[in-house]
Formats: sequence, C-alpha cells, structure tokens
Amino acid sequence: MIVAIDGPAASGKGTLARRIAAHYGLRHLDSGVLYRAVALRMIAQGQDLADAEAAARAARDIDPADLEDPALRSRRTGEGASIVSAVPAVRAALLDFQRRFAAEPPGAVIDGRDIGTVICPDAEVKLFVIASAEERARRRALELTNRGEPVDEAAILADIKARDDRDMNRLTAPLKPADDAVLVDTTTLDAETAFLAAVAVIEARLTAGRTAASG
Ligand code: CDP
Ligand code: CDP
Repeated sequence: MIVAIDGPAASGKGTLARRIAAHYGLRHLDSGVLYRAVALRMIAQGQDLADAEAAARAARDIDPADLEDPALRSRRTGEGASIVSAVPAVRAALLDFQRRFAAEPPGAVIDGRDIGTVICPDAEVKLFVIASAEERARRRALELTNRGEPVDEAAILADIKARDDRDMNRLTAPLKPADDAVLVDTTTLDAETAFLAAVAVIEARLTAGRTAASG
C-alpha cells in the first residue's frame, strides 16, 4: 500500500505520515528533506540559491548522509528548499529516489507537495492536509517557543504565506490536491483526531478496493 500525503507547510502532514506509517507498518519518507538537503548543500558551498544550474548539480550530488543533517530543519533551509524546488531539473533529479522508495515492500507513506499528483499518481490512498495560515503560523511559533528560540509571529505568518504562494504557483509540480485526494482540514483538529480521521479514510479505501477486487 502507498499512502500519499500532500499539503502546505505546518499543515500537520509529517505528524500524520509518521503515525500512519507506524500504525500500518509502512516505511515513511518526508520528501521535503530532499529539497532541504539541496538548499543546505548550496548554502554550505556559498552558492546562489537562484542559480538553477548549480541547484540541479546539487540535487544530482545528494547522498544519504546529507539527509541526516540537523540544519535541515532550520527556517532558512525551508525557505531555500522552496526556491530550489521550483527548478524542473532539481525535481527530475529527485524523482527516481522517491519512486524507488515507494516501490520497496511492504509499501510506504510519503509526504510532500506533489506525491499524489506526480511521484505516486497510482497511490491507493491520497490525503491532502490543510489548515488556515494563522493556525499553521501558531504551530510553528509554538515549536520555536518549545525550543527556547525567539518568536516573531508576524514574520512566521509572512514566511508561511510566501512559501504557500511559491509552492502553489510554480509551473512544475505545483502544490494542489490530486483529483482523487481526500481533504483533511486540521485547523481545529489535534494530531490524534486528525490521525483517527485519516485512518477512517484509509479503511474506507481498503474496503472499497477489496470489494472491487472480489466483485
Ligand atoms: O515541513 P514543511 O512543510 O515546512 O516543509 P517541507 O515539507 O520540508 O518542504 C520544504 C519545501 O520543499 C517546500 O516549501 C516545497 O517548496 C519543497 N517541496 C516540494 O517542492 N515538493 C515536495 N514533495 C516536498 C517539498
Ligand atoms: O509536516 P508539516 O510541515 O505539514 O507539519 P508537522 O510538522 O506535522 O506539524 C507542524 C506542527 O503542528 C507540529 O508541531 C505538530 O505537532 C503540530 N500539529 C498540530 O498542532 N495539530 C495537528 N493536527 C498536527 C500537527
């Protein structure tokens, strides 16, 4: 089984993906890490993130050790990821890795922006997770507060809106729900309630699949 989970920043897709993977015994890939690793590699080498050729080279050079760097989670890396991810050659260089991950038994939960539309268009289950920009900014602010870092909520909200705008309006693999995706709005749902809602969707899909196969 492949579960594709897409949605904007801080919608709760990563939290949901980890819980679903644990519940069904599937492997989990946070595809955002791949784009973050490209940005981080460029930042480390002092390259201009807007240089599409350098970004494509960095994407082809990514190796598994790059995916473990704690600096991947920083705000700057997330911003950088949303810049390099608009380059078609970057997306092309990262496609195979994701498809191979999805194809390995026993199946996978992959979260990102284009998993249901481009990477795994035949996924058995597709979820599109959303939440209001204000709620997403509140969640990111809370994460910073919990880490003892300074918080500027207005700046976080502006970041989130800028990232939504770039991700939804790029020409290659823009953020949008697949035609057969089920929308999960987590604005007023805690992680546990969102998980239970997602399991209900998955169980319904599995039952429908079994009925179709036996009928
Ligand atoms: O965790 P958060 O939602 O903040 O970001 P992320 O999932 O780590 O993704 C960082 C950036 O990578 C996003 O803003 C997208 O521009 C890009 N990305 C993408 O283009 N396609 C994906 N499948 C995953 C991430
Ligand atoms: O992966 P994505 O960027 O979409 O979001 P996340 O990292 O799963 O969630 C962002 C933050 O919101 C985390 O601190 C989660 O604990 C929190 N969260 C929440 O408050 N309510 C949910 N339903 C899901 C996540």
